[in-house]
Amino acid sequence: MSKLFSFLSVVALAAGAIASPVAEPSITDAPNLAKRATSCTFSGSSGAASASASQKSCSTIILSDVAVPSGTTLDLSSLSDDTTVIFEGETTWGYEEWVGPLLQISGTGITVKGASGAYLNPNGSRWWDGQGGSGGKTKPKFFYAHDLISSTITDLYIENTPIQAVSINGCNELTITNMTINDEAGDTEGGHNTDGFDIGSSTNVVITGAQVYNQDDCVAVNSGTNITFSGGVCSGGHGLSIGSVGGRSDNTVDTVTFENSEVKSSVNGIRIKATVNDTGEIKDVTYSGITLSSISKYGILIEQNYNGGDLKGTPTSGIPITDLTIENVSGAGAVASTGYDVVVVCGSSGCSNWTWSNVDVTGGQTYSGCMNVPSVTSCS
Ligand SMILES: *[C@@H]1O[C@H](CO)[C@@H](O)[C@H](O)[C@H]1NC(C)=O
Ligand SMILES: *[C@@H]1O[C@H](CO)[C@@H](O)[C@H](O)[C@H]1NC(C)=O
Ligand SMILES: *[C@@H]1O[C@H](CO)[C@@H](O)[C@H](O)[C@H]1NC(C)=O
Ligand SMILES: *[C@@H]1O[C@H](CO)[C@@H](O)[C@H](O)[C@H]1NC(C)=O
Ligand SMILES: *[C@@H]1O[C@H](CO)[C@@H](O)[C@H](O)[C@H]1NC(C)=O
Ligand SMILES: *[C@@H]1O[C@H](CO)[C@@H](O)[C@H](O)[C@H]1NC(C)=O
Repeated sequence: MSKLFSFLSVVALAAGAIASPVAEPSITDAPNLAKRATSCTFSGSSGAASASASQKSCSTIILSDVAVPSGTTLDLSSLSDDTTVIFEGETTWGYEEWVGPLLQISGTGITVKGASGAYLNPNGSRWWDGQGGSGGKTKPKFFYAHDLISSTITDLYIENTPIQAVSINGCNELTITNMTINDEAGDTEGGHNTDGFDIGSSTNVVITGAQVYNQDDCVAVNSGTNITFSGGVCSGGHGLSIGSVGGRSDNTVDTVTFENSEVKSSVNGIRIKATVNDTGEIKDVTYSGITLSSISKYGILIEQNYNGGDLKGTPTSGIPITDLTIENVSGAGAVASTGYDVVVVCGSSGCSNWTWSNVDVTGGQTYSGCMNVPSVTSCS
């Protein structure tokens, strides 16, 4: 009884926060309110807490112009199975120096959508100080898409994350479609470590039609199996990355495909980073149909001597890179003359069974420190 009462108050509260009198929370299938066929709308500065408190009792949660208070998470991590979450209008977050996350969504059979014109505005410029995660203000991570099983996220538009945007962890069968992460203002206002998608310990993940404007990896797969990134655009950042792999509890990357995507105005195009002296494996990675333009440093960089930075010391073979396919990469003249086209630094037995075809990356210099380069390619 008390549960029903608190649920009804939430609906009343939410109704009170809605500006237009015609817009009421629609309650569908009312006969059994304790059951979940119920749509709940939450707004304003109490919306996040109310949504969080009643997340188990709503089959559809509409977040309409929610203002999340500073230092708190819009926490939808205990959703009932098959819940739909819809963002409407502008979602904002108050300012506080803390680790976040600002948004967390978990569950099974979850559908997350941005309504037309919806805008997730963490307004990261308030934290940007050019130092990212290495110092200065403590910056909240934006979105933990963790433990999402058989779920979809569609049409979210996110602007200016304080630091990393989307962390995908513990997910299985997650599909993200048409997400935009627009941290472009960070190019001039001190955005740093604004990774688009960081993926770990997840399986069967598809990210399609993403647009990422940022200042770090567009996508970084640190571990996981059967991950596909397709039809994406990456601009301003560090490109399409595997890793860094190594030094975590899960150091296996298996079957990752980047396809039909564009990397422009970025530091790197394609990068695979295996940490020196660590163990793990990177296998069955494919880059296919990748267009590069305006790459400042490395067109393609594959290294087994990553050590907190690129190309540090003697490479090791403890994280072998096997069954790598790089095909149809178009980047004629894409690399700056001060950069390098293709750099491969492998341990003595670190890299095997590679396929390399129709790869045209030019404009930069030849790196002189390549080692143990599989015969299918070269660093020239
Ligand atoms: C971001 O925050 C700053 C400082 O509070 C404010 O001036 C600016 O209008 C905000 N921008 C957006 C897009 O909300
Ligand atoms: C994603 O965007 C593309 C291009 O605008 C569009 O054709 C497609 O229907 C969208 N997909 C979804 C699921 O909204
Ligand atoms: C890889 O993931 C996709 C998307 O979830 C799925 O359709 C496909 O069956 C998976 N492949 C394997 C081998 O499991
Ligand atoms: C890697 O291990 C070797 C052998 O133990 C050691 O000499 C070397 O300094 C290590 N490299 C790094 C970067 O830690
Ligand atoms: C070599 O790579 C191909 C293509 O990725 C794969 O089908 C094959 O199984 C691999 N062979 C070995 C010995 O790993
Ligand atoms: C690679 O490009 C060639 C020539 O443009 C095309 O025939 C082939 O289908 C492409 N392969 C893939 C896997 O996209």
